[in-house]
Amino acid sequence: MSRNEIHTVAVAGAGTMGPGIAAVFASHGFAVRLTDVKAEMLERARATVKTIYSTLLQEGFLSQAQVDRGNANLQFVQDQAQALTGADFVLETIPEKREIKQAFYQAAEKIVGQDVVLASNTSGIPITVLGEACRYPGRVVGMHWSNPPHIIPVIEVIRGAQTEDSAVEITRDLAEKIGMIPVDVSKDVPGFVENRILYAIMREALHLLDEGIADAEAIDTIVKWGIGYKLAVIGPLELLDVAGLDIYHSVASYLNADLNASSEVSALVQEKVAKGELGIKTGKGLFDYTPEEIPTLMQRRMRLLLDVKKALMKGQ
Ligand SMILES: NC(=O)c1ccc[n+]([C@@H]2O[C@H](COP(=O)([O-])OP(=O)(O)OC[C@H]3O[C@@H](n4cnc5c(N)ncnc54)[C@H](O)[C@@H]3O)[C@@H](O)[C@H]2O)c1
Repeated sequence: MSRNEIHTVAVAGAGTMGPGIAAVFASHGFAVRLTDVKAEMLERARATVKTIYSTLLQEGFLSQAQVDRGNANLQFVQDQAQALTGADFVLETIPEKREIKQAFYQAAEKIVGQDVVLASNTSGIPITVLGEACRYPGRVVGMHWSNPPHIIPVIEVIRGAQTEDSAVEITRDLAEKIGMIPVDVSKDVPGFVENRILYAIMREALHLLDEGIADAEAIDTIVKWGIGYKLAVIGPLELLDVAGLDIYHSVASYLNADLNASSEVSALVQEKVAKGELGIKTGKGLFDYTPEEIPTLMQRRMRLLLDVKKALMKGQ
């Protein structure tokens, strides 16, 4: 049995995902407490939320009234007990480490009522495993947002082995109330649906790069303009019906055996990680970045994502 009158939402973790998530809840009328173990992360989150609201306002996704409401509803609270006390729904978006998340649940259970849903934004740790740490695992549910959370509308709602129906329904209902698209994932497998598909794409892309089949720029261009653009309009399963299952059957009969199925991480990624070439955050990864171009690049990508979203919403 879970509480379905939600007024106050506690969001734990103010890193990459937390500020955007908190901003979405707050602009949709929920009282939000964003909490983090590090004060500097909360300070950074304040600035991030400001940028998020001004971008969404400028691009017409939020009205001035919604931005004002968001600012009024959002509190940055370092003391976790204070942030969680009286919360009707808790979402953790803290580091992707089982022990850290389980410790958080154990602490949270001592503070919130027994009927409060504890949701996780985990990218792939099974919800059943997270629930194992809890006295009431029935209230633990996956609420997996996509990055950037204030732009990408889909939310995977994942049921663990012990998750109660009411926890799933409350989470789905809440996602709808904040204008998102909740989608049920019925079985609790690592990576759920979104990351399993994304990681299959990334494994093959890295394999093609490792093997020198095409260079990094060529691979990304082919995916963006050949596959990605199309996939925003038609899902892979719909695409199969369009192509014809007989055609897929013939191609998959020889191609599946040739696709990368290694459980090892790409040799190139292993090498880059060992050298500290981690991508944008270090200025070098699979591509090179100068410090000056990074903000422009990120802003351009954000604007394009919003433009694509507008176009897709128009077609609904
Ligand atoms: N980054 C992404 O693209 C992305 C996308 C979808 C889901 N996720 C998932 O969301 C979660 C958070 O990811 P992130 O990238 O935002 O991580 P992050 O490392 O950027 O931020 C995590 C934040 O949690 C704080 N924190 C650590 N322990 C805490 C605790 N006990 N209580 C409160 N705050 C605590 C840290 O100080 C940090 O600010 C992970 O489970 C991740 O897998 C991430």
